[in-house]
Amino acid sequence: MAAHGREVGVFMGWWERLCYSLGIKLSPDKQAFAKEYLDDAGWFLFSQMSLLDQRHSLRVARYIVRKAAFQRGIADLKELVQAALLHDAGKIKGEILWLYRLPVRLVRDLLPRGQKRWAVRDKSRSFRYALYVDLVHATRGAYMAKSLGLSPKVVSLIKRHHDPRPNFYEPELALLQEANSRN
Ligand SMILES: [Fe+2]
Ligand SMILES: [Fe+2]
Repeated sequence: MAAHGREVGVFMGWWERLCYSLGIKLSPDKQAFAKEYLDDAGWFLFSQMSLLDQRHSLRVARYIVRKAAFQRGIADLKELVQAALLHDAGKIKGEILWLYRLPVRLVRDLLPRGQKRWAVRDKSRSFRYALYVDLVHATRGAYMAKSLGLSPKVVSLIKRHHDPRPNFYEPELALLQEANSRN
């Protein structure tokens, strides 16, 4: 029985490593980085994103950690990194098919008025629903973060991460937008 348990343990360890190397699961060091900055509520929000969005959010957060040391006016790096990890939390796993990601991005960047016209909150219209999720994800993510008790600063950064550049310079939002566009 003990030998059988050991075999199962070896198989599970092997399977986990295969998942990490195939990119099906976040590696322990990536999970540890996110958990270092997120409380239970933040981790819950992070976990309900797709792996693609989790990876993108981790790249955004790491970019910010690297850049923040050379940037003036970052009042609270921890909150900014939390916002980076959760800025796309309004896109929930399974809502945007991977093959729609590029077309949705193209519509958002090139035809913003078309996106508003074509977006529908109807899951049976999968592409148009994906346009809808993309359209509302900043507001929706902020609402979810607020409901789960994240700080007003984090909520505000999530809500505005796609806003056009504000009239006054806000270093945290500027760095988040820069990191988001480059990662
Ligand atoms: Fe976004
Ligand atoms: Fe993003």
